[in-house]
Amino acid sequence: MTNLPKTFRVKSFGCQMNVYDGERMAELLGAQGMAAASDGEDAELVVLNTCHIRERAAERAYSEVGRLRREDGSRPMIALAGCVAQAEGAEAARRSKMIDLVVGPQAYHRLPAMVAEAATGKRPIDTDMPAIAKFGALPRRRRSGPSAFLTVQEGCDKFCTYCVVPYTRGAEISRPWADILGEAGALVDGGAREITLLGQNVNAWSGNDEAGRAGGLDVLIRHLARIDGLERIRYTTSHPADMTDGLIAAHGEVPKLMPYLHLPVQSGSDAVLKAMNRSHSADTYLRLIERVRAARPDIAISGDFIVGFPGETEKDFCDTLAIVDAVGYASAYSFKYSPRPGTPAASMEGAVEAQVMDERLQRLQRRLAAHSLAFNRATIGKDLTILVDRKGRLPGQMIGKSPWLQSVFVETAAAIGELVDVSITHALPNSMGGVLRPARVAA
Ligand code: 5AD
Ligand code: SF4
Repeated sequence: MTNLPKTFRVKSFGCQMNVYDGERMAELLGAQGMAAASDGEDAELVVLNTCHIRERAAERAYSEVGRLRREDGSRPMIALAGCVAQAEGAEAARRSKMIDLVVGPQAYHRLPAMVAEAATGKRPIDTDMPAIAKFGALPRRRRSGPSAFLTVQEGCDKFCTYCVVPYTRGAEISRPWADILGEAGALVDGGAREITLLGQNVNAWSGNDEAGRAGGLDVLIRHLARIDGLERIRYTTSHPADMTDGLIAAHGEVPKLMPYLHLPVQSGSDAVLKAMNRSHSADTYLRLIERVRAARPDIAISGDFIVGFPGETEKDFCDTLAIVDAVGYASAYSFKYSPRPGTPAASMEGAVEAQVMDERLQRLQRRLAAHSLAFNRATIGKDLTILVDRKGRLPGQMIGKSPWLQSVFVETAAAIGELVDVSITHALPNSMGGVLRPARVAA
């Protein structure tokens, strides 16, 4: 390969942080004069922005590489990015000869230089983890959809025993205040009306404001709320240990902070939580939720769950169902435990049989779906505001997000990016329908 690619495609897997990184990589390549390939067009460079969180996600990276071989035997230049790149580094390049370069999540500001090297036939690998040097080297953000992601924190110091994140994304690091405010301002200028602050442990964010005063995520949120044109603020993902009093209070006091909290619990069994090194019990988690609800009674709680952690008994699993009922999650993600090389849980005894895991996951998902449906049904007949973010499939139909992050279908002439008042008419587990709220007629 000797030619620099002229077109590219970035394909992101996994979490929202990867979506954010994928957007930044696309901006970076665009700033170098490369064009994003249109749908269906073969790109000359494909960046696979991979996820390593579970075995299946990691395997997917290599099957995606294989699928890039074209019928005539040719292939695009392939960059392996994201967490598989970080975790496997040179091993990834050895495993697949089709991979031309390997770039980790903290090194992708070097992507254009690495692409140029790869074009000369070298196979550059960069999985260095400097303390967020990349952000300073990225181009200023220009255009944005109505709802934008903004990474403010990376890495994790919690070391849950099942999780690869402390190894793939490194230690907890907060982006500086001025950087974040600058990027938020640029996103709003570029069209964003909602910003979701991202971090593997976003509520562990800490920094100094422009006066040098130290503060946490709540202080940052209060400041961002002053940006004109920014209507909605969200944040994800949070760890229960970092839900400070200030952050809880902000939920009751900052109208732009949306009533939604993603607060993973993983299990409802104290024995399992202890083996997971979660640093909370079922009871301390429930008390935390009570405090959040006292500050913001209508808040939607969402969570993550793992079934089949080593040693999980039927009784432990029933405790998980019990905490699901006690919290009444509005939405949730649930996974079968997947042993990850190098994590403490991978060498724990008491593996749960695959069949038992399947059955528990099904039972859990049924229970979670019932709660989502109940939460959505409770909004039928209510008036709420949605932020329109895409077109629906039917003519004239648009889809927007409620404050509680539900997808709401409505017939409207409103454009993407508008806030629209609707009355909810029906609810399904994963979406809701509404009609435009009639303009009030003066009596
Ligand atoms: N196996 C299964 N699920 C996992 N998660 C993290 N690591 C694992 C693993 N080894 C889940 C957790 C976490 C979410 C992002 O992924 O629920 O909150
Ligand atoms: Fe997957 Fe975690 Fe990496 Fe996100 S940070 S892509 S969830 S491994």
